[in-house]
Amino acid sequence: MEITAVFTPRRSDVNHDMYVPRLDLERAVSRSIAGSMHSLIFGESGNGKSWMYKKVLEQDGVHYAVANCANASRFKSVTNEIRASLIPGGTPKRTGYTENKEASVKAVVAEGKLTHQNQFTLLPEEPLFEAFAAFRSRAGNKTAVLVMDNLESIFKSTELMDELADIIILLDDSRYAAFRIKLLIVGIPNGTLEYFAKTKNMESVANRIEELPKVSGMDLAQVTTLVKRGFHLLGFKLSPADLQSIALHAHHITLGVPQRVHEYCEKLAYVMDDHKGGFTAEMLRKADHEWLQIGLRQAYTVMESHLNSKRTSIARRNQVIFAIGKIKSHQFDSNTIVARLRELFPDTVTDSGMGVSTILSEMATGDSPLLTKNPKTNEYRVIDPRYIMCIRVALFLDPHTQAVTKRLFST
Ligand SMILES: Nc1ncnc2c1ncn2[C@@H]1O[C@H](COP(=O)(O)OP(=O)(O)OP(=O)(O)O)[C@@H](O)[C@H]1O
Ligand SMILES: [Mg+2]
Repeated sequence: MEITAVFTPRRSDVNHDMYVPRLDLERAVSRSIAGSMHSLIFGESGNGKSWMYKKVLEQDGVHYAVANCANASRFKSVTNEIRASLIPGGTPKRTGYTENKEASVKAVVAEGKLTHQNQFTLLPEEPLFEAFAAFRSRAGNKTAVLVMDNLESIFKSTELMDELADIIILLDDSRYAAFRIKLLIVGIPNGTLEYFAKTKNMESVANRIEELPKVSGMDLAQVTTLVKRGFHLLGFKLSPADLQSIALHAHHITLGVPQRVHEYCEKLAYVMDDHKGGFTAEMLRKADHEWLQIGLRQAYTVMESHLNSKRTSIARRNQVIFAIGKIKSHQFDSNTIVARLRELFPDTVTDSGMGVSTILSEMATGDSPLLTKNPKTNEYRVIDPRYIMCIRVALFLDPHTQAVTKRLFST
């Protein structure tokens, strides 16, 4: 099998041979879809949200269609994108609603006088109504789910978020509720409340949406399954110990983000292919290098800008960045870092706070911040998991000087 058919960092349809089950999340999605609220799935990019919902909806025999909010953003209309995704054959029939503001969803529905007419001739010019009717008629008796994927692309537009909020509320209106259409909203990385905080009827919208547990990276066991399946499909002969060391390493540097695991394994598979399918630990170093080159240039640049900063003692600063790479939890405060510095650099620590709080707050400001601060808890989090991966791959302790040193990559 081709390497690119096995390790697919960005493939939109699910490859069932490679899909690693995520039972708790899948069960939660499945139950939420069967329930009476709309559902919201969130999690960082590349964590497998899209694969997961596709897998669950298919396995549950749900009739579904996917609307992409990136298109809603491009065409400045959520309604247009919903229509395009629900009415097969592409080009939706011109109804004039895009040009004519008067005929927006709200305006048409507010026309109380239309309510007593027959359902299907009720709102002939209402683009959503027609799309929902078509969708329900195709779904037959099955559960019908309209996925609104990539919500983050309209998150900053008050207008489009308001339009979505209106649609959510509209789906409760008896005329629309008759179609029994459920929304599955998918986005990174906020929960419902953050998403709809600025829309005008936040409370009523939030009341209609069930937020599912966050989709985070895979655990070691899941990464191990992914690695085993992939290399098995490729026909590479690897001992259980080799597979285990690949999985451990891949999990460590990618934080278990499935997209990054695929990316890394793809690189490693090419390195192994160059050596007729054999494996040595050296190859992990080679794959690290290749992987960092392709996906992580930006991360490397950001990390480097913080390493080189002249603002604080560079040595201490570099130690802090190195320590961040060693931390297991996603959130940390300056005490956590100070404790880490004591373990890692016992010879250089002092009794004071060592300026760690200042260093952290500096890393959370500027043009390309490394961290973001949670104002409520005063905890920090690395903005992009790739930055942690980059720190883990690119920084090491010089065995002679104990200084934090970076591997050189041409970026
Ligand atoms: N359960 C899984 N088993 C194996 N590989 C997976 C799994 N889920 C995702 N992947 C891999 O990770 C890649 C990214 O997954 P997916 O597109 O679902 O992420 P996402 O969370 O929707 O990202 P985005 O927010 O950027 O859309 C997929 O192309 C696939 O290669
Ligand atoms: Mg996705």
